[in-house]
Amino acid sequence: MNDEALRQRLEELRREIREHNYRYYVLNQPIISDAEYDRLMAELRAIEAEHPEWITPDSPTQRAGAPPAEKFEKVPHPASILSLANAFSPDDLRAWLERIARVDERVLQADFVVEPKLDGLTVVLHYRDGVFVRGATRGDGEVGEDVTANLRTIKALPLRLPVTGADAADAAGGSVQPPAYLVVRGEVFIRLPDFERLNAELEAAGEKTYVNPRNTAAGALRNLDPAVTAARPLTLLVYQIVAWQTAPLNATNATNATNATNATNATNATNVTNATNLPKTQTETLACLRSLGFPVPESVYCADIEEVIAACKRWEQRRTDLDYEIDGAVVKINDLQLAADLGVVGKDPRGAIAYKFPAQEVTTRLLEIRVNVGRTGVLTPYAVLEPVEIGGVTVRQATLHNFDYIAEKDIRVGDRVRVKRAGDVIPYVIGPVEAARDGDEWPYIPPETCPACDQPVEHVEGEVAWYCVNAACPAQLVRNLEHFVSRGAMDIVGLGIKIVEQLVAEGLVEDVADLYTLRREDLLALEGFADKKADNLLAAIAASKNQPLSRLLTALGIRGVGEVVAADLASRYADLDALAAASLEELQAIEGIGPNIAQAIVDWFARPANRRLLEKLRAAGVWPRQRVRETRQGSLSGKTFVITGTLPGFSRQQAKAFIEEHGGRVTGSVSKKTDYLLAGENPGSKLEKARQFGVPVIDEHTLRRMAAGES
Ligand code: IVH
Repeated sequence: MNDEALRQRLEELRREIREHNYRYYVLNQPIISDAEYDRLMAELRAIEAEHPEWITPDSPTQRAGAPPAEKFEKVPHPASILSLANAFSPDDLRAWLERIARVDERVLQADFVVEPKLDGLTVVLHYRDGVFVRGATRGDGEVGEDVTANLRTIKALPLRLPVTGADAADAAGGSVQPPAYLVVRGEVFIRLPDFERLNAELEAAGEKTYVNPRNTAAGALRNLDPAVTAARPLTLLVYQIVAWQTAPLNATNATNATNATNATNATNATNVTNATNLPKTQTETLACLRSLGFPVPESVYCADIEEVIAACKRWEQRRTDLDYEIDGAVVKINDLQLAADLGVVGKDPRGAIAYKFPAQEVTTRLLEIRVNVGRTGVLTPYAVLEPVEIGGVTVRQATLHNFDYIAEKDIRVGDRVRVKRAGDVIPYVIGPVEAARDGDEWPYIPPETCPACDQPVEHVEGEVAWYCVNAACPAQLVRNLEHFVSRGAMDIVGLGIKIVEQLVAEGLVEDVADLYTLRREDLLALEGFADKKADNLLAAIAASKNQPLSRLLTALGIRGVGEVVAADLASRYADLDALAAASLEELQAIEGIGPNIAQAIVDWFARPANRRLLEKLRAAGVWPRQRVRETRQGSLSGKTFVITGTLPGFSRQQAKAFIEEHGGRVTGSVSKKTDYLLAGENPGSKLEKARQFGVPVIDEHTLRRMAAGES
């Protein structure tokens, strides 16, 4: 392809990727698979690696890769980022209306919008000519902290507005052109299923799990290293236009640009003269934001206050069905001009109010602490509670996360404890009510043996978890099987926890390989099994033999090997024999695999019980093989590179793509086998190590010359 054609292809790819993001995050109607999406991204990366001079900050490849910051700069907001007054009952809402009607009687004819009150962190996003240029936290409402690099990693956040694709724009009701300068406000949070997945991965890696989605999101948003933020499943919904300026931009400091229209539905909204597109109602605001490409919250239009009250009640009922946490509903006067005219009281606009739901937090007595054994043998303590109702559900148990958590919070058996429940997430103990102690509480001592098999438990240096290391532990076997058959692993439909427990209790399976030798009569002897159910289950088990290697690897439950690492390994090793033969050093050299995971893999394959398991799987025909990724032939063929520091013209990922495009290989750590260390600014310990091993250190310029075949 010549440069012009390549350039066109690049633009086309960016447009397509942007549109797929929009379909996924805003419309909830993806039309391509993840794999197809990855292919488009890979093609774009390859072109950008070839032509780094074409990279622009709004390219979909530019989400991660910024180096860690030392501190966050301050960002003044273009208008006050207000908060909200609270209402706790329908009467509070009626009283609010009466109150503001005394300020302006047009309120009596007003209509409203009710939105969910998202339990996340407020962010303020700045766009110039449709390009995301800055993002800040709320701070004190006047000045926030610049978290642009972190926000860029959030895939739901559009880097460029609007989505140009005609199809997607149609689906959203037509596309709006962004003004020269736009500032919007939204909420960053973590969806509950993503939160659970994150915790499951951390638990599998023997690391500390997070206590709740909100704190996790807060920590990720304010982490100094964007790479950490990128690894957290943050998402975003946008609900307000803070500033909308249509005049050409010349002022560099937009915060005091004189012709900026302050579009908050509060303070000093000036008359809009040149902004014909500027929405006049909250309904229009959400539609406008959506067609610009922002994900917006669901909203309910209400003609009067009684409809508002009904809508708030409906949101409250739906609360536990949603896949994100909300702590109330936000009631907004629909007419933005009227809302602005009403003014503010302190930091709260009169034109909106938060209807707060009763806290899904209660106190109850902690009767006993028991210990659950996970599939990797991790021991997780949980509380047995005096039954208590939280949000319409009776709660009898709550997690205590890990033994350190119990000690840090000084949670004692017999304590009155605060318990929280959100969505479908397992309820958890927040901490003790110390004032309620009467001396009848006693500190908890973690067990020294496994509660299921009575074998001694072990602690891995540097991890919080305690493990039962007995491979024959029945509790582990049940969890292991449960994991093996689960959707992200071998996906054996119809094999739920009940059946797994039956199979273990009856001694029909002693390891996962035994599933493949189950006979029809074995199943028919189990309670609740008839012909059809047995046949279906056997068919599902047989079908799982065709699952690809990556799934089998995930299913084996090797510590630290989740779906991502498994896919990575499967692209490098043709089958389990090849992986079993890999050395610690070789595994460690794979990007994304640290020393702990590499060691866990080597240990797993070294254990005789696992060797026997593999032989049983092979004999049963569960032995997927696949093609390994071909390495390209090019000027860097056969050379292994490690990258460190900040490079002037490349992000990490671009440098990696560039090297791979030219046939080279990039690994994560320096060893004797490394051919070159590509070093930029602030190189860190890898440079030390390269010098120790005598590995040549090159800069970006040299790399480009080598790639061009010049040296
Ligand atoms: S409107 C003047 N809408 O709730 C406009 N806020 O307790 C004020 N929040 O700081 C905000 N979801 O962080 C609005 N749909 C929503 C919201 C929402 C969550 C948060 C926001 C605000 C806090 C006020």
